[in-house]
Amino acid sequence: MLTRRVQAALGTAFGEEYADADPLIRPSQFADYQANVAMSLAKRLGRPPRDVAAALVEHLTVDDVCEPVDVSGPGFLNLRLRDAWLGEAVTDLGADARLGVPVEERQVVPIDYSAPNVAKEMHVGHLRTTVVGDALARTLEHLGHDVIRQNHIGDWGTPFGMLIEHLLDVGEQSADADRLRTDPNAFYQASRAKFEGYPAFADRARSRGVSQQAGDADTLRLWQELVDLSKAYFNRIYGMLGVGLRDEHLAGESTYNDDLAAVCDELEQAGIATMSEGALCVFLEGFTGREGKPVPLIIRKSDGGYGYGTTDLATVRHRVRDLHADRMLYVIGAPQSLHLRMVWATARLAGWLPESVEVVHVQIGNVLGPDRKILKTRSGAPLRLMALLEEAVDTARAVVDEARPDLPEEVRAEIAPQVGIGAVKYADLSVAHDSEYTFDLERMVALTGNTGPYLQYAAARIRSILRSAGDTGPEPVPVAVTEPAEHDLVLALLGFGDVVVQVGGALEPHRLCGYLFDLAQAYSVFYESCPVLKAPDAETRASRLALCRTTLAVLVTGLDLLGISSPDRM
Ligand code: ARG
Repeated sequence: MLTRRVQAALGTAFGEEYADADPLIRPSQFADYQANVAMSLAKRLGRPPRDVAAALVEHLTVDDVCEPVDVSGPGFLNLRLRDAWLGEAVTDLGADARLGVPVEERQVVPIDYSAPNVAKEMHVGHLRTTVVGDALARTLEHLGHDVIRQNHIGDWGTPFGMLIEHLLDVGEQSADADRLRTDPNAFYQASRAKFEGYPAFADRARSRGVSQQAGDADTLRLWQELVDLSKAYFNRIYGMLGVGLRDEHLAGESTYNDDLAAVCDELEQAGIATMSEGALCVFLEGFTGREGKPVPLIIRKSDGGYGYGTTDLATVRHRVRDLHADRMLYVIGAPQSLHLRMVWATARLAGWLPESVEVVHVQIGNVLGPDRKILKTRSGAPLRLMALLEEAVDTARAVVDEARPDLPEEVRAEIAPQVGIGAVKYADLSVAHDSEYTFDLERMVALTGNTGPYLQYAAARIRSILRSAGDTGPEPVPVAVTEPAEHDLVLALLGFGDVVVQVGGALEPHRLCGYLFDLAQAYSVFYESCPVLKAPDAETRASRLALCRTTLAVLVTGLDLLGISSPDRM
């Protein structure tokens, strides 16, 4: 809104050709906002920046919104919003079910995330793509988009021959097989060890792999059994995480089996793929390795087998052609960047990925252990995701027990998973998704600092204030802004819509985390300096309660977009 006002002034002061310049309005410590347009304009106009700024102020009509505008430094316009205007704006915000978040023009957005591998442990890397992908799915859905969740699980390929033979060895009804539901890694490791140690087993595994490719019925039944056991495991993790991935979102590698031959044929016929040393390859301009040697994307190996790249070409084709994607997200580890770029470049050549479709690799950075190495083990033993989450809940339980010994046992037992899981998810989301972070449970569950529990606690505290006030809910009460802390809190509240839009555009949930943390801090300052329950008069009390209610709504909605629940009490 301020942007448009300043642009109007630019137009009247300097001519219409300036009316669409970006006035670069940013939050500032010297005013609510500063517009930083005079300096760049000064060059274009050949006039001193302060003159330009003064001319701009003269033509600016913002009296209804801002205090009188002054110029500082080399030509910054200092914009302070009027308390009266803020009061009205936040009253409207409180009455707006969307809390200022716009509904965007609807796009179809398939999101590829989570994608663990069957009969292998989900590792913390999968935790992170699951949590980030889910937050993006929720946010884009909230902005009005048609999100299609695609869980591209690794459910096909060479390891299955080995896994199936191992399943037969231990027995389908055995406890070992059943353990796939709780500890798939052990099963995988055991079969791997046999594969490496016993040539006879390895031979069986290989010929089983051939039967699998050939579609042998009994082999497929055993394969399905492995997939089902793993699905049960994934679903338990998703349930524990409160992530919205269901069986209907599974679109694993095997779903593309019937497309792979066509993918190869089309590319070969179009002259995009060529035979090289018995394999069908795509050589792309700009993808060269050492000594400028071209790096091929192998789409059919010399033994006739297809690879990860072929399947991903099929995902692109399917998501554009059948799902009608406008924008596609692949939430996958950063090391797979080259793979995806080659797949997309090939798909563009083949005409499967028109320029009108945006495709983004949301790169996931590593999660590190205390030794700053990729978190793989915990106290020497292989890391189990389930155990990690259970540990988070236990740690949270200790924190809750200490903070709220007065709460009944069953309430604390209910809060602990919300806090523990919320803590892990928030720690994951509050760091830019492409940078690494160190997994440190103690810090994650702390009630102070930029943590999930701090925000959950802020929300619970507001709930408790509303309860003590006997607050009956959102009756529209006009908010009067008089104190500086109220001014700052309202300013923060009004920024929610913008931040959600930014998260959806830049695909960066950490911006929402940063926003919610700032909001909780602004609320804290407000709460300390502006008595709510003991406000000087009934009108002020009602106004401040309305502010509490709107802050709570924004906190809870924001956490929900991140996939984090807000306990009633804490
Ligand atoms: N299963 C793969 C892994 O664990 C991730 C798959 C990501 N999605 C995709 N379309 N390639 O690394």
